[in-house]
Formats: sequence, structure tokens, C-alpha cells
Amino acid sequence: MKKAIRYLALLLGIVLVAAGGFAAFVALRGIPSYKAQKLDLHVDATPTRLERGQKLASMLCASCHLDPNTGKLTGRQMEEAPQFGAIYSKNITAHKTAGIGSWSDGDLIYLLRTGLKPDGTYLPPYMAKLVNISDEDLYSIVAFLRSGHPWVQPDNTRQPDTKPSFLTKFLCNIGAMKPFPFPTRPIPGPDTTNPVQWGKYIATAQLECFSCHSKDFSTNDYFTPEKSKGFFGGGNEMVGMDGHKLKTLNITMDAETGIGTWSEASFINAVKYGQVPNGQPALRLPMMPYTNLTDAEVKAIYAYLKTVPPVKNKVERSE
Ligand code: HEC
Ligand code: HEC
Repeated sequence: MKKAIRYLALLLGIVLVAAGGFAAFVALRGIPSYKAQKLDLHVDATPTRLERGQKLASMLCASCHLDPNTGKLTGRQMEEAPQFGAIYSKNITAHKTAGIGSWSDGDLIYLLRTGLKPDGTYLPPYMAKLVNISDEDLYSIVAFLRSGHPWVQPDNTRQPDTKPSFLTKFLCNIGAMKPFPFPTRPIPGPDTTNPVQWGKYIATAQLECFSCHSKDFSTNDYFTPEKSKGFFGGGNEMVGMDGHKLKTLNITMDAETGIGTWSEASFINAVKYGQVPNGQPALRLPMMPYTNLTDAEVKAIYAYLKTVPPVKNKVERSE
């Protein structure tokens, strides 16, 4: 008996030393780096792309990269996710050294799909990835970054280096956070004459409404969004701009716990202007007013949500 206890104690000791060793290793190693592929790709800046790119960047990049001090995409401190570290989004203006002026189009596209910078540095989920967006939409964003628009004119503002927390390093070292593979075939855009298909594309691939509106970021399936837990059923806890917590809401068509009783017009008001029916207070960040979406686009999202299986999940609107 005594012997058994001694062995157990020894074993426990070994486990603890190993765990301590792994923790030290994680802390020292930081986020692992990978090998980035070089893409030989050049994006032509057509007027259609520039217009679309500006609209997409306003909905997909500005929320994190727009700097209130410069009025440009020079980055800012991101206090929304303190558990992941002291995080700063970066200068993505056309400045050659402070921004992305010397990155190639291929470098940008590779990062936006996979999360890898040209030198193999991996950017964890606090930098967005666009895994399902169409090639054309992605090229449009890149064209916009090169456009000379006031948001992206060269600016030499530099943000401090991001200091990832131990949690982030740990999740990266065990592979829970890792680069996405680069797509092996072209990704076409949706058939915009079919509202359900168009809405599905916007809600699951382009603006990824599902990523916030499903159960939890950790159980989302970015490659097959429909497989995400509680798909569009809400309840994902997030941190708003002022640091206070709020939950995403159920936007399936369940009549009691979702938006099944909403009219299309109410849905448009909520998505574009943050106004909700029944005298409730306006929607707050991180749900942003998607003022740049056309009514036709929001109607398409509504048509698509009507085809999503209703989820029974009552989420109390956070205070
Ligand atoms: C959720 C917030 C968020 C969104 C949305 C976001 N980014 Fe980022 N981005 C970051 C953060 C944070 C970093 C820096 C990460 C780090 O330092 O580890 C970053 C880094 C980058 C970098 C690397 C810059 C460098 O010099 O290292 C590029 C390029 C970039 N983002 C482009 C974009 C574009 C284009 C979009 C829109 C399609 C976008 N980002 C959307 C948060 C975001
Ligand atoms: C960054 C996370 C995030 C994204 C992306 C997002 N939402 Fe939201 N959404 C929220 C949060 C959080 C709330 C609740 C806000 C509150 O309580 O004030 C919300 C609320 C809503 C509501 C109100 C529901 C109700 O019952 O009052 C609708 C409708 C909605 N979102 C639709 C959308 C659509 C459509 C998209 C994609 C175009 C989208 N959201 C993208 C976070 C997000």
C-alpha cells in the first residue's frame, strides 16, 4: 500500500514537472510560426472592385483597424478581448514601412485566407480571416487597400507590438488556434438572382453573421457553418466596446425565442439601423449598424434565415 502511494506521488511529481515544463516552453516559445506560401497574384483595380471593396472594408475591417486618432486604418488598441492579451490591430494604410505598402497582393490574400503573414507569423483569431468569402470579394478588398481612399493613404503611425496572453500562446501551441488551409479551388460568388442563396452567402461567408450569432466561437465550424452549435440561435457571450458583457440574440425564425414574429421591415431596421421593435433600446456594439447594406441584401438575409432550422433558445437581452 505504502509503496503504491509512493509510486503515485512520484508519478504526480513527474506529471507536475512535465506540466510546468510545458508551461515554461509555451511561455518562451510563444505563438508557433509556420511556412507561408508565396502567391503569384496581381489584383486589377477595376471601378466595380474599388466600390465593392470600400463597402466590404467598412463592414469587415474598419471595426478593428479604424483609428479614431488619425481617421485612417492605422490600427488601435483592442480592449474587447483582454483574455487574449494586450492586442493592437495594425496600420494597414499604404505606408511602405509602417503599413502594408510593400506587401504584394498575394501576401495580403494569403494572410486574409489563412492567418499567416509573409514571414510565417500566425495571427490568432483576434485578427479576422475570410475563409469562405468569394475570390472576387477578397480581390475587391485588396484593390480598396491600394486605392488612395482617405482611410488608406500612407500614414506612419505605428502601434505597439501585440503581447499575446499565456492563454493565447497555450491555445496556439496545442493547435486549438492554427492557420486555415489556403483554398484549393476558386470560390465563386453567389447567384444574386436567388435571394436565399444570396442571403446565405452574406450571412455565412461574406459577413459571417453566424459566427457571432451561434452558441460559441469555440464550437463554430468555419468551413461548414451549418454545423456550428446552435446555428443562429444566439447566446454567444461577447465583450462590448466599454468592456461590459453582452450576449448575441437568437435570430432564427422560432416564434417564441427568435425573430419568427418580426416583419421583413423590422428586420431591415434592426440590421441597418440597430432599431428593434416593441420599444426596446437600440442594438449595441459589437452588433454594428450595417448601414452600407442595400435593402435588397438585407431582404436576402431575411429570406435565407427563413430556411434555417429554428432553434429554441431563450436569450435574455443583456443589461
Ligand atoms: C476582429 C478585429 C479585426 C478585424 C475585423 C480585422 N483585423 Fe486585421 N488585424 C487585427 C489585429 C488585432 C491585428 C494584429 C495582430 C497581432 O499583432 O498579432 C491585425 C493585423 C492585420 C494585418 C497584418 C499587419 C501587419 O503589419 O502585421 C493585416 C494586413 C490586416 N490585419 C488586414 C485586415 C483587413 C484587410 C481586414 C478586413 C478584411 C482586417 N484586417 C480585419 C484585427 C482585426
Ligand atoms: C461581432 C458580432 C456580431 C455580428 C458579426 C453580427 N451580430 Fe447581430 N448581434 C450581435 C449582438 C451582440 C447583438 C445583441 C446586441 C444588444 O443586445 O444590444 C445582436 C443583435 C442582432 C439582432 C437583434 C435581434 C433581436 O432579437 O433583437 C439582429 C436582427 C441581428 N443581430 C442580425 C445580424 C445580422 C443579419 C448580421 C450579419 C449581417 C449580424 N447580426 C452580425 C452581434 C453580432
